[in-house]
Amino acid sequence: MADRKNWIMPRRVEGEASRQAHADLPKGTYEREISKEGFFGPAAFLHHTHPPTGWTSFEGPLRPRAFNLSKLDHGHHSPWSAPRILSNKHMEMRFWKLAEAMPALSRNADGDQLLFIHRGEGALYCDYGHLDYEQGDYIVLPRGTMWRLDPSTENEVLMIEATNSHYTLPDKGLVGPHAIFDPAMLDAPKIDDVFRAQQGETETRVEIKKRGAVSVATFPFNPLDVIGWHGELSVVRINVRHIRPLMSHRYHVPPSAHTTFISDRFVVCTFAPRPFETDPGALKVPFFHNNDDYEEILFYHAGDFFSRDNIEAGMMTVHPSGFTHGPHPKALKGMFTPKKEATDEYAVMVDTRDPIDFHEEARPVEWEGYVNSWQNRSAED
Ligand SMILES: [Fe+2]
Repeated sequence: MADRKNWIMPRRVEGEASRQAHADLPKGTYEREISKEGFFGPAAFLHHTHPPTGWTSFEGPLRPRAFNLSKLDHGHHSPWSAPRILSNKHMEMRFWKLAEAMPALSRNADGDQLLFIHRGEGALYCDYGHLDYEQGDYIVLPRGTMWRLDPSTENEVLMIEATNSHYTLPDKGLVGPHAIFDPAMLDAPKIDDVFRAQQGETETRVEIKKRGAVSVATFPFNPLDVIGWHGELSVVRINVRHIRPLMSHRYHVPPSAHTTFISDRFVVCTFAPRPFETDPGALKVPFFHNNDDYEEILFYHAGDFFSRDNIEAGMMTVHPSGFTHGPHPKALKGMFTPKKEATDEYAVMVDTRDPIDFHEEARPVEWEGYVNSWQNRSAED
């Protein structure tokens, strides 16, 4: 992601230090990374003698936030009335519960729309045809696509909009384009009998979102009426179980190795089950860092979230840029000796370059005390 820059980069090893990041730390120390441009710019690895989150109190506006989105009540027939959780100029996130077929078609004129199916299954009908979906699916809807969902069980959907922009695939670099997931694993909708069966002269509304406001076009027929198409743009779907995470038995790879989709000012990464590192000197948990250039949003989809205490599926945490964080106290005990051989978590991470605004709609399900989850309680004990 980083531009080619003439970084100021003195290479030094000062005092007692490891020369390999995330491994072979001096005995009894905790590593904190300070870095530029996420994990792509210059960085320093500092060996602290206390956990870098070992504060006894934390006050002021720089706060990590946590929300239990699955606890939001009410379903919404339209994605455009689903609660907005947070946004900035380049990204908007909503959490949408839908139990019945959408009565209208939707179109996002503001940007590409990514749907992550947290719960439930159903059928998607769109300009490109029919595509079934299930829990764990990502569905990318190019800007301008008309679409609707027809759930067969109640759906919970995390919606991530690439405002005024697109989703693309990351450059897989040294491991080549077929690693992590092969582009051939991306499924596209089909013009099949099920799609043809929903066509007809039924009056149909299309709710078009532009600059956040909704306009409605009413047709005397169903405009999902194509009989064919060609091109290199389409709705695509991939399930998180088809993601084959990169890992190294000797090195804790940074979250950027798990990038799934890229937009101009943010990335979407997927944490999928993987074995822990086995090299005795390699870190097994995320290293402490300040997230210096990125706001970090994590949505917990399924499994056991190994580096987080008291986090369950359907929750979202936000670690703002500048807030030092790392493993929670219980996970930290397994820094070099995890209790299990592998992680069994699925989570969606969005790292965004621009500060985030939070919306009131998520306030009822906020966990107010989240900042204290790192608190050093030894002073009270
Ligand atoms: Fe982080």
